[in-house]
Amino acid sequence: MDEKKPSRLYFIGKKEDLIQAKRMTVTLDGRDILIIYHQRTFHAMDLQCYHAGSSLETGDIEEINNKHCIVCPKHKYKITLAEGEGIYKAKNPMEEDSTLRWYSKGIKQRVHEVTEVDEDIFVTLSNCPGWIESDYYQTETGRAELKKEQESKDGEADVNADEDF
Ligand code: FES
Repeated sequence: MDEKKPSRLYFIGKKEDLIQAKRMTVTLDGRDILIIYHQRTFHAMDLQCYHAGSSLETGDIEEINNKHCIVCPKHKYKITLAEGEGIYKAKNPMEEDSTLRWYSKGIKQRVHEVTEVDEDIFVTLSNCPGWIESDYYQTETGRAELKKEQESKDGEADVNADEDF
């Protein structure tokens, strides 16, 4: 992200409409964003999962360690809605009591700021400096990779469809 670029508020829609919709996707300044309304709070984050680029749009939301997390539909990675932190459950082999606990991988998914002004909702794209893994799928290379994968899947679907005839 360009940290020198001044932040801009993007109008997303009317609050009531977004509450009804619960989720929506938008492209702001070439970036795909998922907006979620969950438990009276709006969240915005990069649409494509940092792990392998799957869309998070239909991910379930779970509460883990008192944080609301979206669960990527593809490989079930968990990402906190508020921070974009990747979390995982594991045993610490250094501990005698080897029970499963939640650990953090750090910030993996770029989250953006949502602002309510009267009945309108705005998003400001994050200009948090440095590379965050979900940035990859907002680059030309990342998008090309996703497109290629999608095309190969479409090809497979066509092959299967041909078998029906
Ligand atoms: S693409 Fe999201 S968990 Fe793998």
